[in-house]
Amino acid sequence: MPASQPDAPAYPVGLRLSGRRVVVLGGGQVAQRRLPGLLAAGADVLLVSSSATPAVQAMADAGELAWERRRYRAGDLEGAWYVLVATDDPRANEAASAEAEERRIWCVRSDDADAATAWTPATGRSEGVTVAVLTGRDPRRSAAVRDAVVEGLRDGTLAAPHRRARTPGVALVGGGPGDPDLITVRGRRLLAEADVVIADRLAPRELLDELPPSVQVIDAAKIPYGRAMAQEAINAALIEHAKAGRFVVRYKGGDPFVFGRGMEEAIACAEAGVPCTVVPGISSSISVPGAVGIPVTHRGVAHEFTVVSGHVAPGDSRSLVDWRSLARLRGTLVVLMGVERVREIAAALVEYGRPGDTPVAVVQEGTTAAQRRVDATLETVAEAVRAEGVRPPAVIVVGEVVAVGP
Ligand SMILES: C[S@@+](CC[C@H](N)C(=O)[O-])C[C@H]1O[C@@H](n2cnc3c(N)ncnc32)[C@H](O)[C@@H]1O
Repeated sequence: MPASQPDAPAYPVGLRLSGRRVVVLGGGQVAQRRLPGLLAAGADVLLVSSSATPAVQAMADAGELAWERRRYRAGDLEGAWYVLVATDDPRANEAASAEAEERRIWCVRSDDADAATAWTPATGRSEGVTVAVLTGRDPRRSAAVRDAVVEGLRDGTLAAPHRRARTPGVALVGGGPGDPDLITVRGRRLLAEADVVIADRLAPRELLDELPPSVQVIDAAKIPYGRAMAQEAINAALIEHAKAGRFVVRYKGGDPFVFGRGMEEAIACAEAGVPCTVVPGISSSISVPGAVGIPVTHRGVAHEFTVVSGHVAPGDSRSLVDWRSLARLRGTLVVLMGVERVREIAAALVEYGRPGDTPVAVVQEGTTAAQRRVDATLETVAEAVRAEGVRPPAVIVVGEVVAVGP
């Protein structure tokens, strides 16, 4: 038998633990960190420990693992495939480790990596890929490499094309309010996988510059629509590209379902038999006020917020907004697409009963380098917007929350 070589590299392997007994000794921070992974792998976990952190206790209370409230005793590893030794009693750790060796059970030790027969890699997951990194005795470096790889896979900056054929179809991706960092991880990844991107004006443009030249980027506003409506032409373009076998990202500002016509596109895809997935985005209605320090709710100040479209003025027969009722609410009112009709909107709110001195903030191009905020009241906001030259895109926030910030 060859002699043991302590400096030999570890042999990486993926354990399939589903339904198999894993014994965890000690219910402290180490167990708390490792247990979620073991449970996610389907392991039949027995925890032996006289105490547990609240998070570990919650797993036991939820029936996710069996917990015996006592110290380790010889024989506890009976039937185990794998053991994690992490008690604060060095003698118990030694004894359990010796039992594992005796029974030929792979044993991880939190107190003594050299004495362990197995090491836990730094692991992360992204879309069905498990990344596991071992660097010998430098766990911080393992974690840093893991983070870099997982982050790169998630946001698409690490190009790792999969051989699995890309499914043609459409993804409606909410790009967030404007700052390119405020798109979701999934949105960014799908963007990186797209063959075709049909982009709205308010979706963060910087991310389009990062796409490879092979990706066809189409400005939604420039799709010719002839006798059809613009929206119908966009729907037709989505369907045409997807039916030609391409993966199409419909890239929008904010969230696709907040004044984003996302459902019209989802329905059009469904009717055409084109698979369509929706990726939520951070809506400007909440994040743009937040970016300038306005919370849409605040304890003791506003227990509700209402988001309305101001794209048609109060009194216009096409408006579906009940301005009379809105004026009676005490909470926060957020108006999108209203900057050009702010005079009529403010006047209607005052006429129907909201006090004229109610604070109002208008935030233009929130979360971008051009962000600016103009403060006023319902009585003065129309003049302030005119005098300051506020232009769309802007969010109007009405209510006492405007004044609660530091
Ligand atoms: C057609 S709506 C789309 C809203 C989007 N789906 C969302 O969830 O944010 C466009 C309006 O959103 C608001 N908006 C979007 N992005 C904004 C930003 N960065 N700053 C201020 N307002 C913004 C403006 O009121 C603009 O007129």
